[in-house]
Amino acid sequence: MTTDERSLCWAEFERATRERAHPFRQPVVMSVDEEGYPSGRVLTLREADEQRRILRFHIDRRSPKFAQFKKQPVVGVVFYDGPGKWQVRVRGIAMLHTDDAVARSAWDRCLPMSKRTYLATSVPGMEIDWDAPNVFPPGLERRRPTEEESEVGYQNFAVLLVDVVELDSLHLAGDGHRRFHIIDEVHKVRRLAP
Ligand SMILES: Cc1cc2nc3c(=O)[nH]c(=O)nc-3n(C[C@H](O)[C@H](O)[C@H](O)COP(=O)(O)O)c2cc1C
Repeated sequence: MTTDERSLCWAEFERATRERAHPFRQPVVMSVDEEGYPSGRVLTLREADEQRRILRFHIDRRSPKFAQFKKQPVVGVVFYDGPGKWQVRVRGIAMLHTDDAVARSAWDRCLPMSKRTYLATSVPGMEIDWDAPNVFPPGLERRRPTEEESEVGYQNFAVLLVDVVELDSLHLAGDGHRRFHIIDEVHKVRRLAP
């Protein structure tokens, strides 16, 4: 029975940032919406830093989730590995970065096609015409922007850092499920009834 469940989780988070097909690469990240409902969506995991206990995601600052995290900085993240029959649930605190050193450094490392997302002229979630071709500026529908063109997107770009507080890790197995609760800051791992 492993007690090093914390390292196991963080090692897989980190691997998921490098391996495109990793099942932990696109977890469901939850906020609380304006009416108090849980609001989940898939986000791509960009960085996992075990030492700082930080998960990094990129979001559009015009999107509803940005406003939700700003108002209520609590986050739930669910990672799911189907073939591995493994679920990890994270509770954490949301920290938003726009127009600062954290945002700039993340932006500078984005690929041009990722930057193009932030050039969309419509605010994410707003209703658009049925016959609108897409939301990119004319000329950029089918090609990656130049560095200069993509820079306009920086004003819409935000980094969401999740300061991880707790983890709940569950492995399903024929010979007995295994579940652990981890208080991340103090590396405390407890075994729980699955
Ligand atoms: C595979 C996949 C990866 C995604 N990655 C991101 C991402 O990294 N950042 C992001 O803002 N939205 C991402 N999305 C879109 C979100 O799931 C969501 O639809 C969008 O951000 C709007 O969310 P909101 O209305 O809750 O603000 C991704 C969607 C899919 C299907």
